[in-house]
Amino acid sequence: MRFPFSTIVLAAATCVAAFAESPAGKTEYGRYLAEEVAKCAVCHTPRDEKGALDRSKYMKGKVMEAAPIEPIKDWHKTSPDITPSGRLWTRWGGKPALVKYLMTGLTPKGTLAGPPMPTYKLNKADAEAIVGFLETLK
Ligand code: HEC
Repeated sequence: MRFPFSTIVLAAATCVAAFAESPAGKTEYGRYLAEEVAKCAVCHTPRDEKGALDRSKYMKGKVMEAAPIEPIKDWHKTSPDITPSGRLWTRWGGKPALVKYLMTGLTPKGTLAGPPMPTYKLNKADAEAIVGFLETLK
């Protein structure tokens, strides 16, 4: 039996869409955004002696290795633990506050984070994907 090409394309597109919609697909997309696009891991994960990200302390916060040449007001020398077992998740009351933060740049107090933390204004799907991925971490 032969299927028309358009049917095959439609079936393939449905498979891709189903993957992106599946929980595993969303987590993978969130990991991709957090690591490759928004680069959360670079600033929130300490490095080991070889300079690679220390996977045993992944997203657990660190003392930043770089500082500005000229002083920048309110510069933070450390980044917080952004895994669910860190104090921040408890203090902020969990997932919705983090999603809102990545969409607006505003913390639950209504303030912006200090530099070098970037102000992200992500769409809801991307913010939810990142926070969903962080939620899978220990
Ligand atoms: C260029 C480095 C850098 C990148 C990239 C970065 N962070 Fe941060 N982040 C920091 C620093 C430094 C702080 C501490 C600043 C503060 O507490 O005001 C911080 C603070 C935070 C806070 C607490 C904010 C507050 O005011 O308490 C959250 C939540 C956070 N980061 C999540 C993320 C997520 C999620 C990503 C990726 C989407 C990310 N960060 C990317 C450096 C970074």
